[in-house]
Amino acid sequence: MNSARLLSLALSVVFGAAALSAADVLDTFKPGALWPDDQGVHINAHGGGILLHEGVYYWYGEHKIGGEIGNTAQVGVHVYSSTDLYNWKDRGIAFRVSDDPNSEYTKGCGLERPKVIYNEKTRKFVMWFHLEFKGRGFTAAHTALAVSDRPEGPFAYMASFRPNKGIWPVNVTEADKNPQLPEPHAGRLANAVLGQYLRRDYEVGQMSRDMTLFVDDDGTGYLITSAEENATIHIHQLTDDYLGFSGKWARALVGDSNEAPAVFKRGGKYYMLSSGTTGWRPNPGRSAVADSMLGTWTRLGNPCRGTPEQIATTFESQSTHVLPAPGKPGAFIYMGDRWRPSDAIDGRYIWLPIEWDNGKPILRWRDSWKLSDLKTAP
Ligand code: DGJ
Repeated sequence: MNSARLLSLALSVVFGAAALSAADVLDTFKPGALWPDDQGVHINAHGGGILLHEGVYYWYGEHKIGGEIGNTAQVGVHVYSSTDLYNWKDRGIAFRVSDDPNSEYTKGCGLERPKVIYNEKTRKFVMWFHLEFKGRGFTAAHTALAVSDRPEGPFAYMASFRPNKGIWPVNVTEADKNPQLPEPHAGRLANAVLGQYLRRDYEVGQMSRDMTLFVDDDGTGYLITSAEENATIHIHQLTDDYLGFSGKWARALVGDSNEAPAVFKRGGKYYMLSSGTTGWRPNPGRSAVADSMLGTWTRLGNPCRGTPEQIATTFESQSTHVLPAPGKPGAFIYMGDRWRPSDAIDGRYIWLPIEWDNGKPILRWRDSWKLSDLKTAP
């Protein structure tokens, strides 16, 4: 019996006799291909992230349905579990949108990029996601919170926020705060650099669209989010229970127009992969580095290497998460989405090993690869 089959049997014991019965046991990543779960169904966890808890990986992501309507939240957040990262068991809907038309997370709202972290002190699983109110496009720019006692859910909705209302970031300048500046008409990015959106949203709370979560080695949690009309990244430190904001926050990459942030830590430095802002269409990826989460963040350029087409489209993908590789200190996996906005359920997953060149994270295309290809830190 090969090791993959043994693993399948072990999973069956842990998660029930039906585990992996409907699909072949996988031992290879195939970026862009259909990725069957234990029922043989393409994994439905888009814009997702992964939590490792007690030896089990949980993959949370947007559950999409077919057609363009699938770009809005018709179901909620799907969760899968795995012990090897290749083979995923469908654990169902971890967070469900509401049937109540008056709820702010009613069916048809925008629910994007859900991420889950575990709080050691409260023993709660804490989910944050980007929430847009139904029928209001992307104008709400809220971040929302749901909590569960178990990794597979169900997660209970708590609240949504515009973060850090009435609180300036740690790196605010007097010029940023100055309300006397004339309204410039220089465009979105210049407005961000001038602090116009920061000031505009000071009273109501800052915008929060594409987002991710990061827990530092000391347990401090952060929400990293695209704000200021998507022109600037905001990094909000969370409270100890991860259920709110500590009031300490920073602006990063001001006026650089980033979406799809994914953060990881290697060798004491913090790295961020992100994208530009072209809706569902892919664009050249970005990377940045900092000595602390609250910055200063320094641009490192496009991490992609390959053909001009691959470099210009991040291999037809947009970042969503970076996963520390199991048992390989210093090795990380890029997770991206290849969106299919005309048939959202057909979105594909682009997972690639992160390589390094002169302290910069690098991505190269692979038709297929294995965890054994990943190198530990030099
Ligand atoms: C790009 C974002 O990264 C996605 O999560 C989604 O919000 C699309 N824009 C919508 O156009």
